[in-house]
Amino acid sequence: QQQVAESLYILNAFAQKFFAQQLFETEEGGNIALSYLEERGFTHETLHKFQVGYNPQARDVFAKHALQHQFSEEVLLKSGLVVNRYEELADNYRNRIIFPVHNNSGKIIGFGARVIGKADKAPKYINTPENELYIKSKILYGLYFARQAIDRSDECLLVEGYTDVISLAQAGVENVVASGGTSLTTDQLRLIKKYTNNLTIVYDGDAAGVKAALRGLDMALEESLNVQLVLIPDKEDPDSYVRLVGAQGFKDFVAENKKDFILFQLEVMLKEAGNDVNRKNEVVNHIAETISRINKAEDFTKQQEYIRQSVSILKIDESGFTNLVNKFI
Ligand code: CTP
Ligand code: MN
Ligand code: MN
Ligand code: MN
Ligand code: MN
Repeated sequence: QQQVAESLYILNAFAQKFFAQQLFETEEGGNIALSYLEERGFTHETLHKFQVGYNPQARDVFAKHALQHQFSEEVLLKSGLVVNRYEELADNYRNRIIFPVHNNSGKIIGFGARVIGKADKAPKYINTPENELYIKSKILYGLYFARQAIDRSDECLLVEGYTDVISLAQAGVENVVASGGTSLTTDQLRLIKKYTNNLTIVYDGDAAGVKAALRGLDMALEESLNVQLVLIPDKEDPDSYVRLVGAQGFKDFVAENKKDFILFQLEVMLKEAGNDVNRKNEVVNHIAETISRINKAEDFTKQQEYIRQSVSILKIDESGFTNLVNKFI
């Protein structure tokens, strides 16, 4: 087990070096991949920092290179870098941009591999399969680079994607990690809590983004994190938005538009309920339960504040609502 992990670390480091060389030092990499990344506005400095690379088009350049360097077929397959195609080893990330994923000590535990240009048929990203190193529920992309900035600013911004993290860092907004667009896990929230209690979720404004964000709410409350939410408007995402409005514009937008997570949820549900009395009643119950999850011993004032704001939004009686909240505890 320990040995498998060790050989995966060594292989991943070896692969990263190879992919970076392909990106920066070959004609194919330059023409196909580097030019694409440059067009998107990434500087060489940024690409070097995040150790971005390129896996060439040919069927098995990386597989061959690794076999020549005595890596076993078994570890190659386990890493997800290589797959068995028609009984032969082939590169899994052919013709893709490679984003290494680091653990907290800066070692590479896996990769995200992006199609170059528009994703037509193929999936836009392929990620490392679960293995001894790559345990999806415990990974926050970019945390290794963001830790100090999170600590300093006492806030962690959570975005959906690799390029969101990289673009924001390039613009000087460094306290950013990505979830990969899936809903948050308790392990990920605990990782964040090591550095700050203040989590600001900055997701794409599409319905999928909102849903993914809301699913993390109850867990975040149980970890007693202060969760705020900002949705990026008009089909933009943090990467495209920061390019549009600049670093200061982005920071201002977040500061002005971040909403408390519970109140955000309340507003979304209330809007959906419309004038239906039964549904409004369900909303009241749901919010009471959510508020009841706030750890009362630690956050009594916070709970009181939520009760006050909720009854004002819901236009209901405060003492009745307080009783309801207490019923769930
Ligand atoms: N994702 C994934 N597999 C996919 C699509 C998305 O793992 N097929 C994850 C990736 O971590 C991706 C994130 O979800 O970064 C957000 O997806 P999306 O918004 O579609 O991609 P972007 O990060 O915006 O990538 P780009 O800017 O390069 O289009
Ligand atoms: Mn360079
Ligand atoms: Mn999206
Ligand atoms: Mn996106
Ligand atoms: Mn994007």
